Order: sequence, then structure tokens, then C-alpha cells
Amino acid sequence: MSTLSQPRPTENEIAMRGSGYYNKNSSLQHVGALSAVELFPDLSHKSRLTLVDYGCSQGANSIAPIKQLLSTLPDGSSAHIIFNDRPYNDFSALAATIKQHGRELDRNRSLMIFPSMVPISFYNPVTSPTSVDIGVSWSSFNYLEYQQPLLPASDLATLVKQRTTRNAKHAHSDLVKLLRLRAAEIKPGGCFIFALGGRVAGNQSPNAVAQAMMVAIKCMVENGTLTQEQMIALDPPMYERSMEECDEAFTKLAALWTVERKFERIVAHPAYVLLQEKKAEACGNEAEEIKASREYASIVVDWIVASFSWFFVKALRAGVDEEEQLKTWTSSEESLLEEFAKMTKEVFLTSFQDQKVEFCYLYFKLSRN
Ligand SMILES: C[S@@+](CC[C@H](N)C(=O)[O-])C[C@H]1O[C@@H](n2cnc3c(N)ncnc32)[C@H](O)[C@@H]1O
Repeated sequence: MSTLSQPRPTENEIAMRGSGYYNKNSSLQHVGALSAVELFPDLSHKSRLTLVDYGCSQGANSIAPIKQLLSTLPDGSSAHIIFNDRPYNDFSALAATIKQHGRELDRNRSLMIFPSMVPISFYNPVTSPTSVDIGVSWSSFNYLEYQQPLLPASDLATLVKQRTTRNAKHAHSDLVKLLRLRAAEIKPGGCFIFALGGRVAGNQSPNAVAQAMMVAIKCMVENGTLTQEQMIALDPPMYERSMEECDEAFTKLAALWTVERKFERIVAHPAYVLLQEKKAEACGNEAEEIKASREYASIVVDWIVASFSWFFVKALRAGVDEEEQLKTWTSSEESLLEEFAKMTKEVFLTSFQDQKVEFCYLYFKLSRN
């Protein structure tokens, strides 16, 4: 076969669902980011700060950690805050979020805040060399740089295993790459604090809502709404690393980074706590209990759809060329996405009702040598 005809990896041009949808449906990530607060340095000795949030999406979950970081800066200090994400991110929603929280960020005008937005993949340099004091990132580093060519079709279970092995390899080289890139832009003595979606060693099973989503996709193939080809094309370039896998990358880069702290935490979707409260309030009233279960199913499915929509629409476009892949969604694609969300809610209610939706996060504080 000539090299020209061989499928090649393409840029992983994903974004979260736009028009502020992600902002409204990412409360689990919000809790995830806030658990990193204990890693934040005291900045009371600084008067100028440059901070980058890598993969900030529409910003809702960036604000609270940034506010917390800025809280120890002396009055009158200035802070350049760089909000980074891929070019297809909803930067209008991000700009609105930054504006909406302007007074909180500048502590009611006691700081000078200079926000900027940088639409570029973090697998590239994002700022100039040695310009950054603190880098942060929440729930973003499990997105890989490239979408690999689809593996030859086989049964779905085998395919899923093969994808995991393939993605693990890329996840390692991607983490090494992005740590090298950050080492070039974060100043010696500066720090890099991040939380990424992880995997408890030995546990491969996806959470209940991800399982419901897979069942819904199979149902949509069976009822002819999706084709087999589209189902096979649902191959998100993502990987949830174990702590040990992250350690391998840190060991390789020990000359650049020192791991100051690391820990693992399971974060439950906040709607789960709400569900328990509503069930307790219902005091056995069946109608109220069913209502609470429906609300819970709706929130957790909207949560996963906020991050998964682009992958779904990309799969609908299986077989079209790269440029077509990035066009605005059509109304029929939007309708299929709605049908998919509705079906996933039904499956969740019938087969996974009230199951706890939780996510494993790995937290790191690295200092630049
Ligand atoms: C699950 S969202 C997390 C967003 C936000 N940090 C939060 O805590 O809610 C992942 C974000 O990472 C961004 N992302 C993924 N790969 C990226 C890359 N290579 N460069 C920049 N951003 C990327 C996505 O576009 C998305 O906005």
C-alpha cells in the first residue's frame, strides 16, 4: 500500500458543547477543580503574576480557583490571566464569563487584572518562554493530541480493549510532551497545578452514566437511527491515566519538574447529594421519589452530553473529509443529539436508576526546577 493512502492521525479538534451549555452542565468538574485548592501557594510576597489556565472551556469552573489563587496577592498587585483552549471552544461564552466575574477577580478593584484568551492547542507553546508563574489545568489533560485512524472493525468489546491499549501509549507521550512545553513557559521556581480524570489502578469499568450512554447508542443502532459505521466511529481520543502512569512521565522529566504533592480523590456528582436529600424529604411519597430520580437522571446525562456532544456529531459525520468534520452542526444533527440524550436518560432510569455517578481525579503540584 502506498504511504499516501494510509490513514493518518488527525488533530483532536474537540470542544465542549457551545452556547454556554458546558458552563451550565459541568458541576462535577467544578467540585473537581476546587479540591485542588489545598495545593495553592501563598502569593503574599508577589506584586506581579502571570497565570495560565490550560483548557479552560467556557470558564465557569476557572473562576473559583483563580479567585482563590489571587486572594493572597497584596492590594495593588497586577495579574495577567491567560485563558487557553482549542480554537473551536466557545470563546464568546468564555468572554462573557470573564466579564461577569470581573469584580470578583479584581477583588473589587484592589487588583489590576489583565485577562487574555489564547485559542491554541496546549500541545503547542501557549505563551512566551519563562513568562508564567503558575500554570493550572482542570479536567483537560485526558484529551489526547490526535484522533488516531479507526481500528479495523471487530466486536465492540474487543475494539474497546484495543483502543485502551492504543490510547495508553499516546497518553504517555502526550503527557511528556505537554510537561516539556509547560517547562519552557513556566519560570524556574514557578508551579504547575493540575487535576486530570484518572483511573483507580485495576478498575476499568466506566461510571453508570457512561454505561447508560453506550446502551443508548446500541439501541439507536438497533432501531436504525445510527449506522454500525457511526457507532464504530465513536472513538474519543481520551485516556484516563493511573497514578503510576503519570509517575512514569514525571520520572522521565525529573530534571525539569519536582513533584511536590500528588493525591487521588473520587468526586461524586453534586446532583447525587441533592438526590439523597430529595429522597429523604419525600418520606416514602412515590411520586416525589420518582420525580427526584428523573431529575437526577436528567442532570447526570446532560453533564456527560456537555462533554461528549462533539464526539457524537463527529461520529455522525463518519467518512466525510476533515474540513467537513468541523462545520457548524445541522438541525438534523442537533435533533439526533437530543434523541441520544433522551434515550440515555431513559436507559439510566430503567437500568441504572439513582446509581452514584462519580469520577476519579488525580491531583498534582509540580515545581519547576
Ligand atoms: C472537560 S473540559 C474542562 C474544562 C474546564 N477546565 C473545567 O474544569 O470545567 C476539557 C477542556 O479541555 C479542552 N482541551 C482539550 N484538548 C485541548 C488542547 N489540546 N488544547 C487546549 N484545550 C484543550 C477542551 O476543549 C475542553 O474545553
